[in-house]
Amino acid sequence: MQDFLPLNGTDYVEFYVGNAKQAAYFYQTAFGFQPLAFAGLETGLTDRVSYVLQQDKIRFVFTASLIENSEIAEHVKRHGDSAKVIALMVDDAKKAFDETISRGAMPYKNPEILTDEYGEIIQSGIHTYGDTVHLFIDRKNYNGPFIPGFIKWETEYKTKDVGLKYIDHMVGNVGWNEMDKWANFYHDVMGFTQLISFDDKDISTEYTALMSKVMSNSNGRIKFPINEPAKGKKKSQIEEYINFHNGAGMQHAALATDNIIETVSELRKRGIEFLTIPDEYYNTVLKRVGPIDEELKTLKKLRILIDRDDDGYLLQIFTKPVEDRPTVFYEIIQRKGAKSFGKGNFKALFESIELEQAKRGTL
Ligand code: FE2
Repeated sequence: MQDFLPLNGTDYVEFYVGNAKQAAYFYQTAFGFQPLAFAGLETGLTDRVSYVLQQDKIRFVFTASLIENSEIAEHVKRHGDSAKVIALMVDDAKKAFDETISRGAMPYKNPEILTDEYGEIIQSGIHTYGDTVHLFIDRKNYNGPFIPGFIKWETEYKTKDVGLKYIDHMVGNVGWNEMDKWANFYHDVMGFTQLISFDDKDISTEYTALMSKVMSNSNGRIKFPINEPAKGKKKSQIEEYINFHNGAGMQHAALATDNIIETVSELRKRGIEFLTIPDEYYNTVLKRVGPIDEELKTLKKLRILIDRDDDGYLLQIFTKPVEDRPTVFYEIIQRKGAKSFGKGNFKALFESIELEQAKRGTL
């Protein structure tokens, strides 16, 4: 069957934040992103400011409102600092819009052409879960720094990158009984297929549970796991997210590296905090996953997790939330063949998250 929505990859993720300048500094300093583009008062905007950062194929935009009443200010008031736009690269933004709208998507932005001295970009957009939107970006006739309206962000402050390469997957948390609705949305409206599903028997501890379906586009470049809370003895981490975020939203982006040991060592040096995993995990993990190239001692020191599937193994680790609210966090992942998402680590991971929830009094 022909793919009615061919996607070339993630173009960028835009976060609406309370203070874009400081968010940009944090992602530069702690995560090693490089300055790319800027728009604000100096470029003629009066109501908002945006900083664009890049590391290899990963582009993040941090946007803050300069005025009291705006979509951005409302978003930050409601959700805290949170992902607003998950932008997807396409060859034809009008066709992407028409195909998804005809299948039931809610329009966010009608197709429009943006031009400046560097060429043109065609973009369009649709709504997805919560207040999150997808933009479709066609940048084949553009060679400026980011998109028209942005100038190159010139700054003397540069940090070394930490080896992050691309976005492996982005997870959406949705409300009670909404997982199927949004998995169906990605299937029916965007032509994605379901790779895997986990139910509360796979993902539960003594206390909390969640359910998840992993949706992928046809070439596998875009993978969106969708989580919903499930009933446990105590409050699910997904429920905690939904409460603090005031509804559905992006929970984490998994950032891929070719050398997780170097990347995580550097991130730790720069102050990024990760979930702690008990010593016992490392006593039995090799029995579960078999031989690996890395020294277990090093992985244990850094608290990196290991899992294996039919295609190979993967190494992964999760940060604590990077915001005031316990909402958005990151996964760092290195795939050595494995195509899955670390199911074998769920239990250890969720017990670790529960320890953090207990400290916050939200379990
Ligand atoms: Fe993940």
